[in-house]
Amino acid sequence: MTANKFEGKFITFEGVEGAGKTTNIEFIAKKFQEKGLDILLTREPGGTIIGEAIRDILISKDLPEMHHTTELLLMFAARAEHINRKIIPALEQGKWVLCDRFTDASYAYQGAGRGIDFNKIKTLEKLVQNKLRPDYTFLFDLDANVGLARAKRRGETDRFEQQDIDFFNRVRAQYLKMAKSDKSRYCIINAQYDIETVQQQIFSILNDLY
Ligand code: TMP
Repeated sequence: MTANKFEGKFITFEGVEGAGKTTNIEFIAKKFQEKGLDILLTREPGGTIIGEAIRDILISKDLPEMHHTTELLLMFAARAEHINRKIIPALEQGKWVLCDRFTDASYAYQGAGRGIDFNKIKTLEKLVQNKLRPDYTFLFDLDANVGLARAKRRGETDRFEQQDIDFFNRVRAQYLKMAKSDKSRYCIINAQYDIETVQQQIFSILNDLY
């Protein structure tokens, strides 16, 4: 675990679609609450009224095609609102913030997926986040084909879920690259197994985090 200056911890959850992030965040949130931690469960893009409105634009299939730069800037616009109005105030109050996706998703989806120069993303990261970085990140790793099939079974797909498999293979590869390059921050969860097996993997890590 890396260390922010706050009393609370900032923990993020990443992975390709269908990797089970949402279910497992709820499991982790429950375990943290059982330990008496005060938590804030939130997500990106979204997490605030303005952020959720931006999310609707980002995932909508009814709008005209969006330029990749617009997509990147909207992600960071929602993030600016989220960080300043919700994440930092919660961390200052000593809360543990559990966030479903954060800037690693911009590197994976807009960087590796869309092909935007990583230096541009880094510039926005510094501008919007200043020194804020996640203390710890769970990467739910899964074959992109399997994840996409799971996501499609859940119901109607959003604008991102309509991308081709090569896009998601690049996203997954980028996530793994980041996770392997910083073992103190990331933990890779093998999400191909059934929910009990995945939760056993998570459980064995949680004690180190408290
Ligand atoms: P979700 O399905 O996990 O709620 O996320 C919505 C989509 O937004 C998902 O396909 C990943 C994408 N996304 C990005 O492309 N870049 C980002 O920075 C974030 C936070 C999400």
